[in-house]
Amino acid sequence: MPWEKGAPSPGLVDFLATHLSLPRGTVCVPGCGTGHEVLEFARAGFAAYGCDLAPSAVRLGRERIAAAGLVAEFGAKDFLRDPPPQPFDWLWEHTLFCAIQPVERDLYYVSAVCRWLKPGGNYLAVYYLIPDDDGPPFGTTREELWRLFSPHFQLLDEWVPRSYPNRQGLELMLWWQRKLEV
Ligand SMILES: C[S@@+](CC[C@H](N)C(=O)[O-])C[C@H]1O[C@@H](n2cnc3c(N)ncnc32)[C@H](O)[C@@H]1O
Repeated sequence: MPWEKGAPSPGLVDFLATHLSLPRGTVCVPGCGTGHEVLEFARAGFAAYGCDLAPSAVRLGRERIAAAGLVAEFGAKDFLRDPPPQPFDWLWEHTLFCAIQPVERDLYYVSAVCRWLKPGGNYLAVYYLIPDDDGPPFGTTREELWRLFSPHFQLLDEWVPRSYPNRQGLELMLWWQRKLEV
């Protein structure tokens, strides 16, 4: 699995280290893979939930959390189509958006984020800015992100994060808040 980096996204690590006083609450990590970021959120005091289509990913995530002596929930779910076990306060995006077919972004992804997140909830995302012609991973642009998400979310902040060495300068982090009326 070329996407398995053996460590959480540096952008998430930095965000959690620099936002210690933010209210915690529940967080969903869709397409959580082997659970590095579920663990990072659990360690930071969130009630973390990882979901992945692959039962093997869910199993590895559970093992990772148990080995760290932490608590988190996991579910083998299709984030794009399934209902959430509960609406979440936070949703963390990292390499699910780029792993699905681009046509699924309009069809499923945006409505799934709205379905899984509470109104007023925080959608924190790192996106991959690479050409999308021969993915996965399929890249995106700031223009596409604005078109997809600005009708439903208010942008709170944006920055270029610290990244894994092979992604340096190719990622964009956006921190959105779900609008109340959607
Ligand atoms: C590129 S991997 C990234 C994993 C993890 N986010 C990471 O960066 O280490 C994408 C993950 O999304 C999962 N996935 C793909 N489609 C999904 C869906 N519809 N619902 C839930 N998980 C999905 C895959 O099984 C895979 O584990």
